[in-house]
Amino acid sequence: MIPIAEPLLEEEELNNVIEAVKSGWISSKGKFIPEFEEQFARYCGVKYGVTTSNGTVALHLALATLGIKEGDEVIIPTLTFIATANAVRYTGAKPVFVDSHPDYWCIDPEKIEGAITPKTRAIIPVHLYGHPCDMEAITAVAKKHNLYVIEDAAEAHGAEYQGRKTGSFSNIACFSFYGNKIITTGEGGMCLTDDEKVAERMRILRDHGMNPDKRYWHDITGFNYRMTNMQAAIGVAQLEKIDRAVTRKRERADWYKEGLGDLEQKGLIRLHPEMPWAKCVYWMYSVLVEDSFGMDRDEFMKKLAEREIETRPLFYPVHIMPPYKVTDRFPVAEELSRKGVSLPTGITLVKKDVETIAGAIKELR
Ligand SMILES: Cc1ncc(COP(=O)(O)O)c(C=O)c1O
Repeated sequence: MIPIAEPLLEEEELNNVIEAVKSGWISSKGKFIPEFEEQFARYCGVKYGVTTSNGTVALHLALATLGIKEGDEVIIPTLTFIATANAVRYTGAKPVFVDSHPDYWCIDPEKIEGAITPKTRAIIPVHLYGHPCDMEAITAVAKKHNLYVIEDAAEAHGAEYQGRKTGSFSNIACFSFYGNKIITTGEGGMCLTDDEKVAERMRILRDHGMNPDKRYWHDITGFNYRMTNMQAAIGVAQLEKIDRAVTRKRERADWYKEGLGDLEQKGLIRLHPEMPWAKCVYWMYSVLVEDSFGMDRDEFMKKLAEREIETRPLFYPVHIMPPYKVTDRFPVAEELSRKGVSLPTGITLVKKDVETIAGAIKELR
């Protein structure tokens, strides 16, 4: 089976974990945590990093820190991983959905204003599948309506918008380091911010709301959202190879373009987009199976599985699933979700694998 993704774990990760274990600092204190926070924040061009136990709680921590609560509304794209919506709901606020842009699949900035009400407090643009959102347009709307922006950059480490790294465009940006992400810590996440006070409040809320100057004194209700030193140890090692990971992702995207470009020209599939203003990191290289292909996306996936090629469907739009069902229609997201399939994009994948996959897709015709 050619797997959809595989982490690249080498000597450095192992050595760092051994060092963490030998030091005895295996919980959420230890040298690797501040090291990982400082280095990742610097990589993204942001001042402060606050690690968390995963990307979902990074989003919740960001929302809680900004005071989002019951009665508030938060705008999110309907086409995203469910965690974006869940994090909003954990605060008691209501996620309000916006459709995707047909050309690059992220939230359509032109449709945001129509979703704003007097209750709206924040927008969460999601850099979906490694492609950055149009941050200039989103920031302009947020400014006009005095809204917070929280980037969900779980899938977009190292991606760039107009030459600047994702994670550097918002009040707080949230990352995931789950095993299939561009860099991983197994489970893990991080919030980035340029605001010292926001960073301080995130650290307090992450640690049960404990007063940093008075042990076991809690002024506010917080959470235990801490990352362990062992996870951060892996993160520090992964960070050394992040540029290599991004280069490899983009190289694999080039191989897919080479192998499948003629199918796109014939209008049978649409390849993973990259806008002129974007540097996409192709978290999972994905294509749209057009109706003219001759079989639907599910059949396409089944046929590839028979050929030992693992794939994933694009996310289901959040608004069609039971916990969030609404009657409004979001036609672009619905079409992308119906046609979209992610192909193997692990950074351990070799060119021959991509040629095999492209060959298998052509044989389906
Ligand atoms: C867009 C998006 N947001 C949030 C998350 C949540 O991250 P985690 O799985 O680390 O909780 C993920 C990924 O898994 C994601 O893809």
